[in-house]
Amino acid sequence: MTDAISHQAPEMSTGPSSKVRVWDPLVRVFHWGLVAAFATAWLTADELQPVHEFAGYTVAGLVAFRLVWGLVGSRYARFAQFLKGPGETLAYLGDMTRGRERRYLGHNPAGAAMVVALLVTLSGTAFTGWLMEDEARLAMLPSMPAIVAPAWADDDGDEREYGARGEVEGPLKEVHETLANLMLLLAALHVGGVVLASFRHHENLARAMVTGDKRGPGPGDIA
Ligand code: HEM
Ligand code: HEM
Repeated sequence: MTDAISHQAPEMSTGPSSKVRVWDPLVRVFHWGLVAAFATAWLTADELQPVHEFAGYTVAGLVAFRLVWGLVGSRYARFAQFLKGPGETLAYLGDMTRGRERRYLGHNPAGAAMVVALLVTLSGTAFTGWLMEDEARLAMLPSMPAIVAPAWADDDGDEREYGARGEVEGPLKEVHETLANLMLLLAALHVGGVVLASFRHHENLARAMVTGDKRGPGPGDIA
């Protein structure tokens, strides 16, 4: 069985000095591909529209892949392995403020909540971009699930989505831009969390997202 499809816990005979494969190759390609596509979408917004849209669709495709991989992927890629409830997440954040949070081999509870926030916000950004791109897509909004339609119903209709020359304007563009700006904030918090956890646990987590390997579990660590 290759590491990409192994769902077993790492060998417990591994000590802190040995290395354990944590991020499978697809998670790593997903991660750095996502960073590149998001950066491209951000940098080309309102400048190079075809590239912007291609990068935005790439983000959407990567997120869709990650949702599937979260169900059938390798051990540490699985949502069931790392998603925790609010209680455990808040307890972890409390431990962090006291500087006594435990080391997790996979995502820690706060990192896991951030993964969800990133995936949801990226989906919303790409979805609103897709909607804006064509007037016919907007017409589908009233028949969309309740989570989308009420936001639309709140719009008083004073603003139009398209200007006289067909350029995009109006509330949907504002939602798209707000989500994109929220993404910047989340990405900054995410990288801050990665740097903080790297210092706390004396390991370079960014490098682990490149090589896939982390230090083996020590006493008290959660594998
Ligand atoms: C250069 C800056 C970045 C670095 C160094 C970095 C590093 C990392 C690391 C180390 C992890 C694993 C976290 C853990 O140990 O629990 C991770 C996960 C993740 N990061 Fe980043 N990240 C960066 C930028 C971004 C950006 C800009 C995005 C969003 C566009 C992003 C989205 C994610 C996602 C979705 C995951 C979850 C990975 C998975 O389980 O598939 N990252 N990142
Ligand atoms: C998730 C990735 C995406 C990010 C981060 C992103 C970000 C942005 C940002 C920041 C703007 C504001 C530009 C400005 O006016 O200053 C913008 C505008 C826009 N985006 Fe996106 N976007 C993404 C995906 C998409 C997709 C998938 C589409 C369509 C297929 C799209 C279509 C548009 C359009 C039509 C505009 C308005 C451009 C204009 O001002 O005329 N975006 N996007």
